[in-house]
Amino acid sequence: MNGTAPRAVRLTGWGRYAPAQVLTNADLERMVDTSDEWIVSRTGIRERRVAGAHETTASMAAVAALRAIRTAGLEADDIDLIILATLTPDYWMPSTAALVKEAIGNTRAAAFDIAAACSGFVYGYATASAYIAAGMARHAVVIGAELLTRFLDYSDRSTCILFGDGAGAVVLSASDEETSTVGIELTTEPQGAYMIWLPAGGSKSPPSAETIARGEHKIRMEGRETYRFATRTLASTALAAVAKAGWQPEDVDLFVPHQANIRIIEAVAKGLDLPMSKMFVNLDRYGNTSAASVPIALAEAVNEGRVAIGDKLVFVAFGAGFTSGAVAMEWTADPELGRMGDAAVRPEDVTVRLPVDWDSVDPIPPALAEVLARPLPGHLDLSDVVPGEPEHVHRPR
Ligand code: UT7
Repeated sequence: MNGTAPRAVRLTGWGRYAPAQVLTNADLERMVDTSDEWIVSRTGIRERRVAGAHETTASMAAVAALRAIRTAGLEADDIDLIILATLTPDYWMPSTAALVKEAIGNTRAAAFDIAAACSGFVYGYATASAYIAAGMARHAVVIGAELLTRFLDYSDRSTCILFGDGAGAVVLSASDEETSTVGIELTTEPQGAYMIWLPAGGSKSPPSAETIARGEHKIRMEGRETYRFATRTLASTALAAVAKAGWQPEDVDLFVPHQANIRIIEAVAKGLDLPMSKMFVNLDRYGNTSAASVPIALAEAVNEGRVAIGDKLVFVAFGAGFTSGAVAMEWTADPELGRMGDAAVRPEDVTVRLPVDWDSVDPIPPALAEVLARPLPGHLDLSDVVPGEPEHVHRPR
């Protein structure tokens, strides 16, 4: 990549992928002492997707990235930067972005992972925008992808009900027209560092039989403290991005917030004095997919017809760290292109190369073995994962 003159940046592609298998609240009732009523009333979540044994963060990311690239009307080799946000990489090394680069058939891009937990996609978006604006990249793909269900403690009812798997991606491109991203705010507040964390496996506590026995390879969270931080910071970060754009909150047509808890999104709407109709919500069907949450929600909002050219959008996220980030942008792409991008890429045509002479242990947590062994829930065509359909084909179970 060579630096050239500063360039305008536009969002030209979007795509998402969600695994087919569904984990319902009724399934969780059979694993821990919880109820559908508690989960729905405290979080808004009804079901989440679970990756199958053949899937990884890289495989889901590659499908979402290719769909975003097709939506942008590009070929994989047009991309010269791949940034992948995840807290659940396939391996400690290499980066998951490197595996995605190969899987999508790209030969040119610099590819790297970014670690900012649930805010990772927004951090990646900011980073890619800066590369393009600096003339260091022409087309960048930014991916948020997570396979969280393999890092949950299925005896901890306060965390295992919250999270799900999936991937979303956007393409950002250099443009001769005006830049469409008009405000970015990123924050990091390390006093929350141990509020959401995964204690073992890193250099402070390398993996061992003892760390496994202590259950330290699973996500831990102080829910109440995180909730307090989330409501406060989502609103303040969104406001900062809105102010940088020179807008008022009421000017924004649609907020695409991190999908952690409906009560958090309602509190943010109330704090900004905005109706819930300005908040896009799909957490009822996916749960919290961490870095994948905002790009999946964005792709669905656009494909569902909630976004028109000229609309003012704000993406806003928060997560472990604590991190948060918001992007204020004006939509410039033809919303119709998203469905075509989705249809152009079949998951079964995308392969992530595996190492020679090595096979992983069975990656499926024992608690999920039964769920993943059952037949897939009906025919999941693309429209099935777009909100607004009269009824999901896989309901009722
Ligand atoms: O993206 C990463 C950021 N993470 C988040 O945004 C999560 C933020 N936090 C939250 O969304 C909420 O704090 C939770 C959904 C995790 C928990 O909701 P809460 O209203 O804050 O519940 P709580 O932790 O205050 O617990 C209330 C009660 C407790 O029982 P006692 O002590 O009052 O008897 C919990 O043991 O609810 C109990 N509880 C449950 N009961 C049934 C906790 N989890 C469950 C459960 N089913 N799954």
